[in-house]
Amino acid sequence: MKIFLDTAVFSEIEEVASWGILDGVTTNPTLAAKAGRPFEENIRRISELLGEHGTVSAETVSLDAEGMLKEARLVTSWADNIIAKIPFCAEGLKAVKRCVDEGIRTNVTLIFSAAQGLLAMKAGAYYVSPFVGRIDDGGQNGMEVVQQLAALKQIYGFETDVLSASLRTTLHVIDSALAGADIATMPYAVLTKAMGHSLNREGLKSFLDDWATIPKDMRPF
Ligand code: E4P
Repeated sequence: MKIFLDTAVFSEIEEVASWGILDGVTTNPTLAAKAGRPFEENIRRISELLGEHGTVSAETVSLDAEGMLKEARLVTSWADNIIAKIPFCAEGLKAVKRCVDEGIRTNVTLIFSAAQGLLAMKAGAYYVSPFVGRIDDGGQNGMEVVQQLAALKQIYGFETDVLSASLRTTLHVIDSALAGADIATMPYAVLTKAMGHSLNREGLKSFLDDWATIPKDMRPF
């Protein structure tokens, strides 16, 4: 499963990229607004930080297919690793179909059911993004949607990648992998929590304490 960061904060992207495990970045208008920088500059910089190692999704904001298509053309013209993020709705499906015809890759976002994801895959989405945490908030099982989309991909041979989004916990990350998601996108805080375990600190300390008891002339460092 690929790991994406859901952020527009450069330092977070740089840090996780330096660990060698970052496969991409997703952004949305909320994250873009928080960044407090011009949108184009933001997306271009993230695209440069990722280089050939990943994609960055930049979201369109028009509500009609024509407007979405124009914005998708614009954002994807900035660099080869930029994906146009398009909200799921009838106009969004229309826009995705036209993007496919023009060779523009899309990430269909705001997916809240397997039926929506299936239609987005059928339209030719490059990624579909089920919003696990927000589905859970509504009292339904978000991970079930990820599982269903992964199964539909298998059954019908769709090339679309299932991008598990709106993840809030370590369990969401692991369950996404077990559900067969191709990608999981998460905030930096969720990724760092997923890496943490209290036994690491204790374990490392006791190893180092024991190492220090070996006489200096009996160890190489
Ligand atoms: C994904 O592409 C979205 O930007 C993101 O996962 C939304 O997450 P949220 O529900 O925490 O805002």
